[in-house]
Parts: sequence; C-alpha cells; structure tokens
Amino acid sequence: PTAMERARFSRPAFAAPYAADLAASALNASMDSWDQAPAASELEAAVTRTLAAEVYPHGPDPDALVTTGGTESNQLGLLLARERHGSVQVVCGAGAHHSVHRAAWLLGLPEPVTVPSGVLDPAALDEALTDLSGPLLVVATAGTTDTGRIDPLPEIADLCERHGAELHIDAAYGGPLLFSAERRGKLAGLDRAHSVTLDLHKLGWQPVAAGLLAVPDRAHLAPLGHTADYLNADDDTEAGLPDLLGRSLRTTRRPDILKIAVTLRALGRTGLGALVDRTCATARLLADLIEKTPRLELYERPTLSTV
Ligand SMILES: Cc1ncc(COP(=O)(O)O)c(C=O)c1O
Repeated sequence: PTAMERARFSRPAFAAPYAADLAASALNASMDSWDQAPAASELEAAVTRTLAAEVYPHGPDPDALVTTGGTESNQLGLLLARERHGSVQVVCGAGAHHSVHRAAWLLGLPEPVTVPSGVLDPAALDEALTDLSGPLLVVATAGTTDTGRIDPLPEIADLCERHGAELHIDAAYGGPLLFSAERRGKLAGLDRAHSVTLDLHKLGWQPVAAGLLAVPDRAHLAPLGHTADYLNADDDTEAGLPDLLGRSLRTTRRPDILKIAVTLRALGRTGLGALVDRTCATARLLADLIEKTPRLELYERPTLSTV
C-alpha cells in the first residue's frame, strides 16, 4: 500500500463510524424537529443531497431519505409509487428481496408478479409487462441477496419506458459500486429509476442502521409531508424551519447520518471506492482458488463480494 492508502485505511479511519455512532448515542438528538437536532438536520440535508446526486447526477433535484435499511427503503419506494397512482402492480424478479413482497402486502397492493430470474430476464419481463394493465412498478435488483447478481438495468429501464411502467431499483447491496471508478459502470441505468434503495450497512462499512432511499427530484417526496402541532409550532414554521416529519415514516429517529458523514470525511469517495474494489477483488481471488481446488465447486463467478 502507498502512504496515502495506509493513511486512508488506518485504524482511526475505520473506527470513525463507530466513534460517531457513540457520539450520536451520547448526544441523543432526535430528528423529528429541527430545534431538537439543528446541526444533525443540516448535516443530513447536505449528505443526503450529496449521496442522491451520486445516484442521479442529472437531477433535477436529487434527494434521499435516511432509513433503517433496505426493507424500509423498498417499502418507501413502493409507497411513493402507490401515492403517484392510487395503486400499482409490482413486477419483480424471483431473486428480489422478500421485503418487496412484504411491502406490497403492507401497502395493500396486489401480490407482486414474479418473473423467473437468475438476473431478471428482459424477454420474460417484456412478456409480463405486455400481459398486465394499469399502473406498473418494476422492481429490479442491483446486487441480489443470495449471489450478488445485478439485473440488466439499461434493458429493464428501456422496457419500462416502452410499457409506461415505473422503475424502483433495490441497490441495497450493490449501490456502493458508485464510489468505485473501476466498477460504477456496472450500475449504468441506475439513474433511470424513479427511486433507488441504498444501504450502507451492507457494502458501506457502517454499523446498523444506514439505509437510504434516493429519488431524482425532491418533489417526489411530497406525499410524505406531515405535520404535528408539537413538532411544527407556528413560529417555527414562520421562521422557515424545515418539517422533518416529512423525511421519514418514523417520528423520533437517531441521527444515523453522522456516522455516514464521518466515514465520507475520513475515507472520501476514493477511499470507500478502494475498499469496495479490494473486497470485490478478494471475492474474485477466492473464486480463483475454489476453481483450482478439485474438492470444491464454484457456483458462479462473483459479481460483487458474494462467493
Ligand atoms: C437486496 C436487498 N434488499 C434489501 C435488504 C433488506 O435490508 P435490511 O435488512 O437492511 O432491511 C437486503 C438484506 O439483505 C438485501 O440483500
């Protein structure tokens, strides 16, 4: 490792998110009104917008919500789609995370139509979308839970456009490839989704919880707008203080953004990207070793870090 890498991967840099989490616990700020957590609120606004702009570099006004993880992010993605259309029929690959099915159940949506997949097969998806009517939401996965596969996002986005369907991409696992100059191309098409699940307690070196839901336009979050007298006093609203209830389904909520911000400050995009690269390269090395070992059978070449 170079001196720069040694500095990046030094123990203090790795310990940063845990120290930040301890500070967040000690300060115990709650993100349900600005006056309880002014610094954390400003930090959250800055970091979520920055991360959303990584997903949606062409805007128009990217933003992200902080969640408890992939499950809540997927649920929010489906909820926002339902609010745009009244109801939606979800179509997903057989390898989609179970939280997609659970979210559909919870939100009173029809049972998702499941398309056979290793990765989601565009021909099978085309057929399903042709057969279905009404508002449709395709859920693609960038990093499946079992094997880390990435669905063919550009082809899926094309099909969605052709059939007038919306697209949500669950990039809970694969999203951090965005930080790697070498690997971010594997996520081409991500920015064509109406919403994207990210989860930095998977491939982002964060303690739980560190989920996000990114959208290309802040205006898409309007359905979550909600106020309560004790958290939105008239004089606060008149003073222009933001309504934080509209940034989550939760009320009291930890400033989970602090550890993410501290990690970004300690490692930077290139530092995080280097960790992603190193992890994926190690997975490939393990796969090489398995291939050379007659007693072992390799299921498939790794896409991410799963072997
Ligand atoms: C692809 C994918 N989406 C969503 C989730 C759910 O994430 P969480 O457990 O953080 O709610 C997982 C968890 O493994 C996952 O692999």
